[in-house]
Amino acid sequence: MSKPHLGSNYLLDAYPRKDWAGHSDMGGVARFWLHKHDSFRSLGGRLKGLSAGFLDNKKDLREMHSKFLYPLNEYISNLHGHHSIEDQHYFPLFRRLEPRLKKGFTLLEGDHDVVHETITKIVKDWQNIANRKNDPQFDSKVMTVGFAEIVRDFIVKVDIHLTDEEDLVIPVLLKHKDRSL
Ligand SMILES: [Fe+2]
Ligand SMILES: [Fe+2]
Repeated sequence: MSKPHLGSNYLLDAYPRKDWAGHSDMGGVARFWLHKHDSFRSLGGRLKGLSAGFLDNKKDLREMHSKFLYPLNEYISNLHGHHSIEDQHYFPLFRRLEPRLKKGFTLLEGDHDVVHETITKIVKDWQNIANRKNDPQFDSKVMTVGFAEIVRDFIVKVDIHLTDEEDLVIPVLLKHKDRSL
């Protein structure tokens, strides 16, 4: 995952994270952005907790199916929608507003590509598990552990992306007073 804020993010120095909450130019778009990211952290935290519960190899596929299916679907579909709006609307706009941060937004788009490649793998693995669940040769506990590891690592990567993105996006929104965007 990228670390655009570790590069030349001159705006983060002018608008450090500690000042965001009480900043007078914090508008609706910035608040919504942070709220949306917090909702991913919250649901991701639940999924990480579920993953941890399956890593001891004591739970079976049926339990995984009933616990993972709804929150994982919700997480993945919300992430798809969120990234589409960022890629198609906001990032091009931010590039025009702050051309010097162009590289950072390109790195964030690269993160989105990695995230969506991983989602494709997760969906494929899930379908594979579901298709084989009645196969007597199928060791469902081994598969559930493997799947839980993939989901846990995926959420960790998304969490890093969320923070990197906020470091780039929120200062732009504060500088340009997002009420006028
Ligand atoms: Fe993003
Ligand atoms: Fe985002």
